[in-house]
Amino acid sequence: IADARERARSAATLAELQAALDAFESCNLRITAKSTVFGDGAESAEIMFVGEAPGREEDIAGVPFVGRSGQLLDRMLAAIGLERQNVRVTNTVPWRPPGNRPPTPAETQICLPFVQRHIELVRPKILVCLGSPAAKAILASDEGILRIRGRWTTYSFGLGEADTIAATAMLHPAYLLRQPAQKKLAWRDLLALKARLTENSPP
Ligand code: URA
Repeated sequence: IADARERARSAATLAELQAALDAFESCNLRITAKSTVFGDGAESAEIMFVGEAPGREEDIAGVPFVGRSGQLLDRMLAAIGLERQNVRVTNTVPWRPPGNRPPTPAETQICLPFVQRHIELVRPKILVCLGSPAAKAILASDEGILRIRGRWTTYSFGLGEADTIAATAMLHPAYLLRQPAQKKLAWRDLLALKARLTENSPP
């Protein structure tokens, strides 16, 4: 992890961070993955989403959230007037776990410095964790997603006031595909997100 932290910290741009990740050999997930799925969307987006891990389609395309979950995410964004290319999207781990199993806590921890640096380099105004693994890793929360979703907290990359951004967690689109009745909670959280965005950018 010290090695990951060192490599992530020395990256001054997203391109350098991607290159550092490409050269990072210490996570066993990369052995079975076809691609390193780094991120997608605007490099200086106001809003950034962190999901769990690439799935089959993402592994093939090398782009996060392009499969069924990604298509639902795009519709969720569109519902509040956001376009995919204007937000930043990444995952807690950049390699697809074999058979789409969840990443282990050890795998997540080893990749965490890269995600943290990714957030720091994008410097969004709002950070949204999609699903429990992202919320646990990034927001350091032990509570289940159904408890923490919709709650707002802060995320800090440094000690200055400008280094602290608003952060929240929402239900993961893959979960919503399995549990469509929960979409009403997602809708509520999307509206709250939209209200925050409007607050942040006066006309
Ligand atoms: N699910 C995720 O968490 N991330 C992706 O990129 C795709 C599906």
